[in-house]
Amino acid sequence: MIIEPRMRGFICLTAHPEGAAQNVKNQIEYVKSKGKIEGAKKVLVIGASTGFGLASRITSAFGSDASTIGVFFEKPPAEGKTASPGWYNSAAFETEAHKAALYAKSINGDAFSNEVKKETLDLIKADLGQVDLIIYSLASPVRTNPNTGVLHRSVLKPIGGAYSNKTVDFHTGKVSEISIEPSKEDDIENTVAVMGGEDWAMWIDALKAENLLAPGATTVAYSYIGPAVTEPVYRKGTIGRAKDHLEATAFSITDSLKDIGGKAYVSVNKALVTQASSAIPVIPLYISILYKIMKEEGVHEGTIEQIQRLYQDRLFTGKEVPTDEKGRIRIDDWEMREDIQEKVAALWEKATTENLSEIGDLEGYRKDFYNLFGFDIQGVDYKAEADEMIQVDSLK
Ligand code: NAD
Ligand code: NA
Repeated sequence: MIIEPRMRGFICLTAHPEGAAQNVKNQIEYVKSKGKIEGAKKVLVIGASTGFGLASRITSAFGSDASTIGVFFEKPPAEGKTASPGWYNSAAFETEAHKAALYAKSINGDAFSNEVKKETLDLIKADLGQVDLIIYSLASPVRTNPNTGVLHRSVLKPIGGAYSNKTVDFHTGKVSEISIEPSKEDDIENTVAVMGGEDWAMWIDALKAENLLAPGATTVAYSYIGPAVTEPVYRKGTIGRAKDHLEATAFSITDSLKDIGGKAYVSVNKALVTQASSAIPVIPLYISILYKIMKEEGVHEGTIEQIQRLYQDRLFTGKEVPTDEKGRIRIDDWEMREDIQEKVAALWEKATTENLSEIGDLEGYRKDFYNLFGFDIQGVDYKAEADEMIQVDSLK
């Protein structure tokens, strides 16, 4: 069928299989262009279908010839209905990996559940024996704790008081003032339960208990800090508490891996347009101004550039992994550069509906957003019939 973007609020209801495939191919080409990385060879990526997780899977496979198992939660296609973008991304990734004679299998289901963990452990046992790198890149609004059966919902709210600031509707370009009510009693606890480190630790414990971690195995989860303007709703809000918990969990996981010489890291990544970040108020306005400045300064990166740099310049240099005073890897270093943040802060003050298309990179924001769903990608013929039912062996 002919597939067009169908928007509802901050999400796009359709995805384009060929656009998604082109997107994956472009990322693969980028990684190949940067040369080989002496990295891990057997890699599990949890949250492997979009955003930073997909970039991690691609970098492992095409930078280090790694075998990869990807876990994600995506919607397969149905007759006349497209799959979710991550499903098409993963289908394309597997196709390209197999063409390159690389092992790649995927598990589509709820990573928070005991069932999907068990299925993954069984697959590692059967096919890889052990893994030496585990990337944890989930972004989810909900989690059912498998031990208690309780469904937790994460919220994006300030703590202690309401927060007002500017935001943009990136579809219309309208800049407006929003006010977000402070979190209520259980909001912090619930957000930490979803986006904190508990599930990451459960994965590593389960892998270790079955002797599926290779000696010296490394695990990495992703975090964010960001600027002062987004602090009340991000780093000092409910989601920030979850990130604090995630970062603290890295230390407890490292302790639990002492006997095998393993190590857990958190990498603080740059703000980028993903399905997760476009739903957070205030952040899209910040990102559109940030993109403008970082592109002007020649230091703009997308997810693949970020993760390729994480692997090549931080994780797999053969030297000690550089971290900040809190033990975190920083690949948000260019975003957080003083001169860049000063310029962003100055433009933030000025931003209005009238001037944003000039002082911000709304076009770039929108393009990245459409690209997430396989639209607006160079070389794809969107007027042609596309096969929404495209099938891949291990991805049903
Ligand atoms: P994303 O939405 O692109 O990716 C989320 C992934 O999680 C997808 O593969 C999805 O299928 C998977 N997933 C969600 N729920 C699942 C479930 N129940 N079971 C299995 N898989 C599930 O998000 P992203 O932006 O790449 O975020 C990944 C991590 O990076 C998050 O921890 C996020 O906070 C962090 N991060 C994001 C940004 C940003 O600007 N986007 C910046 C820094 C750090
Ligand atoms: Na991801």
